[in-house]
Amino acid sequence: MSKHKFDTIAVKGGFGWDEQLRYRTMAPPLIQSAVFPYESAEWAADLYSYKIEGFAYGRINNPTNDIFEKRMALLEGGEASLATSSGMAAVFMVAHHLVEAGEEITSSVRVYGGTQQLFETSCPRMGIKTNWVLEPDKIESWEKAITPKTKLLHVESPSNPNLFVADLPAIIELAKKRGIPLMVDNTICTPALMRPIEMGADIVIHSATKYISGNATSLSGVIVAKKEFIDHIRHTGYRNIGPSISPFNSWLCLLGLESLSLRMKKHSDNAMAIAKFLEKHPKIEAVSYPGLPSHPQHEAAKKTMSAFSSMMSFNVKGGLDATRKVIDNLSIAVHTTHLGSSQTVAIQPAATTHFQLGPEDRAKAGVPDNMIRYSAGLEDENDLMEDLDNALNAV
Ligand SMILES: Cc1ncc(COP(=O)(O)O)c(C=O)c1O
Repeated sequence: MSKHKFDTIAVKGGFGWDEQLRYRTMAPPLIQSAVFPYESAEWAADLYSYKIEGFAYGRINNPTNDIFEKRMALLEGGEASLATSSGMAAVFMVAHHLVEAGEEITSSVRVYGGTQQLFETSCPRMGIKTNWVLEPDKIESWEKAITPKTKLLHVESPSNPNLFVADLPAIIELAKKRGIPLMVDNTICTPALMRPIEMGADIVIHSATKYISGNATSLSGVIVAKKEFIDHIRHTGYRNIGPSISPFNSWLCLLGLESLSLRMKKHSDNAMAIAKFLEKHPKIEAVSYPGLPSHPQHEAAKKTMSAFSSMMSFNVKGGLDATRKVIDNLSIAVHTTHLGSSQTVAIQPAATTHFQLGPEDRAKAGVPDNMIRYSAGLEDENDLMEDLDNALNAV
């Protein structure tokens, strides 16, 4: 545990004065090397038999990745962390590590589409079944979806794209009572707004592709958990499968972390102003943002998050075509599938990311045709509201 506070760790964690002097660099070094020279035959033998810690091979660890991992562990209040090539690789590695053929995952149904597909179509190929928690705001629904074969609980809060917010303390209590590890996808909050491990969760994962890198420059992911758990994944599944992060992406994430809490504050301030503006707009049917009192889990959001992050969704009056027109008339918000970037991003999930699901499954997933997912960036909030107003008035 570091004696320093969050913003100091975000800038200096994992790369202190001693390391700066050793490398003679102020910025963390980018060690773009796949292999590392060994000191002696004895040293190499000790390294490979885990008597000492060090860098054996780039698929297992790397000095730049190591700094990123140490910084993430400190920021999340966890013992250790493992950086991965993407957020999906992080989710997969935890599931692969904890759940064997014939065993089961219990997951909130309100998860990112990639996670839903991983659990629903890829995990069954390894003999792993997922029981979906259909009403994840109700603890009885979690109880019902747990079986004697459940080896992992998974929750995403807030969820992408529906913005479901979990009552984490209640789910953590249940996980502890049943003795099942709980993985929390903390992508939308980042440790700047929520620290599930400090609340009692066992594992946190991130798509660091989003707020942590901060400007859509690098696919990246992270797992934070107890050191024994992280070491075990590193030296088994991670080493065997190879979902390692590139050192350059870790380095970009380290730069991103330096401004994380400043950015999360501005993202949250901009999103709150925009959500309030949209709630009153005559062309808008509904707005979903955890910071609004109208959000169904606003109380859970207030209890678990220190601010409400950048992501919201809103429904445009007039259906699919009207919504498409709004997207085409936005001139500041970038139309793409992303969130958590310094640039504002908007997308119509029913016509893009969730198109393949078909109308019935989209309805089940809570993705209506007239929904826009919007991630407020760091631009001026008045410019963003004017951009939205112009686009909505073009309908
Ligand atoms: C909440 C959440 N978790 C995980 C992922 C997967 O991350 P990646 O795209 O880095 O693999 C995403 C991607 O959008 C996400 O939004």
